[in-house]
Amino acid sequence: MSYLELAGLQKRYRDSVAVDDVALSVEKGEAVALLGPSGCGKTTTLRMLAGLIDPDAGSIRLDGAEITRQPAHKRNMGYVFQSYALFPHLNVARNVGFGLEERRVPRAETSRRVDEALGMVRLAGLEGRRPRELSGGQQQRVALARALVIRPSVLLLDESLSNLDAKLRDAMRHEIRDIQRSLGITTLFVTHDQVEALTMCDRIAVMKRGRIEQIGTPEDIYERPATRFVADFVGRANVLPAMRDGAGAVSVWGVPLPAKAPAGGDVDVFVRPQRIRLAATGEPAGEGMVRLTGRVLRSVFVGDHVEIIVEGAGGQLSVEMQSGTKPPADGTEVAVLWQAGDTLLFPREAA
Ligand SMILES: Nc1ncnc2c1ncn2[C@@H]1O[C@H](COP(=O)(O)OP(=O)(O)O)[C@@H](O)[C@H]1O
Ligand SMILES: [Mg+2]
Repeated sequence: MSYLELAGLQKRYRDSVAVDDVALSVEKGEAVALLGPSGCGKTTTLRMLAGLIDPDAGSIRLDGAEITRQPAHKRNMGYVFQSYALFPHLNVARNVGFGLEERRVPRAETSRRVDEALGMVRLAGLEGRRPRELSGGQQQRVALARALVIRPSVLLLDESLSNLDAKLRDAMRHEIRDIQRSLGITTLFVTHDQVEALTMCDRIAVMKRGRIEQIGTPEDIYERPATRFVADFVGRANVLPAMRDGAGAVSVWGVPLPAKAPAGGDVDVFVRPQRIRLAATGEPAGEGMVRLTGRVLRSVFVGDHVEIIVEGAGGQLSVEMQSGTKPPADGTEVAVLWQAGDTLLFPREAA
């Protein structure tokens, strides 16, 4: 049995099911991301874990004990809200120490642990400031320190980096991950940002409409997405509508693929843009390669790479080239090549 176990967790609101039969096991010290689009039930799941809302069905077990109906304050979970939810009238030290005061921890120990937590998030020296006298990043750190100071059984973070600008967000990702690892603290964090999920956790649970679609390591999720939804949501992907014949043979843009379609109806072909190579139209496919032809529609410089849109018989696809290489001029006839093994086939599904 894992340290934290969710089973059959469900929450309905009047007209909808927010969380539907969610099961998840988290090991002690592990960091797991709940990743999915807005409205898929991430926050609701986190709030049920924290004891802030009651599930309609299912169970939550922590360290072997059933806690499904236990009040929030007895679970000792640290919760960092999306909006930080700092007390505006209290200074930094009292914000951070709040959970300890509530637990009637003696003053000297509170003060020592507040100092320790502020040191961890690199805010030493700002104890006397009010939240409004802090930057967004500093407020975020106060919220994190306030969650850590109680030495929580589980740390819960809800989109807690989404209010920061891109550069700071990137720095905070690493900082939070370092703190999480060095304390060995079991962490669940919620995000709609795939980069955040890929970089900050040991495993990702991808959610869609209240359900978990796939659970796996970042590599699993990125390299071996189980569904079209996961492939599309995590990382950039080309989705090419494919034709299939009665025997299950698949072709895309009129070119047969060395792959069999899953049984059933229509399929889509997925291939990551960075797995595709542009070549001269004369270049043959080679063993185990897929080769389509088209025309360069346009190239877009994106900084770390150049995106090239190629138009062919069956639509468009996007190819990523390293920046520094000169893209072919618009209108150039090109071949696009990729390893057949980099192709993913999924049954077509409603978006
Ligand atoms: N208190 C509520 N009353 C009614 N519907 C709610 C309530 N809270 C959330 N929902 C609905 O439940 C679904 C999941 O919400 P939420 O867990 O906040 O999603 P996420 O955090 O993934 O964006 C959404 O459709 C949302 O509108
Ligand atoms: Mg949310």
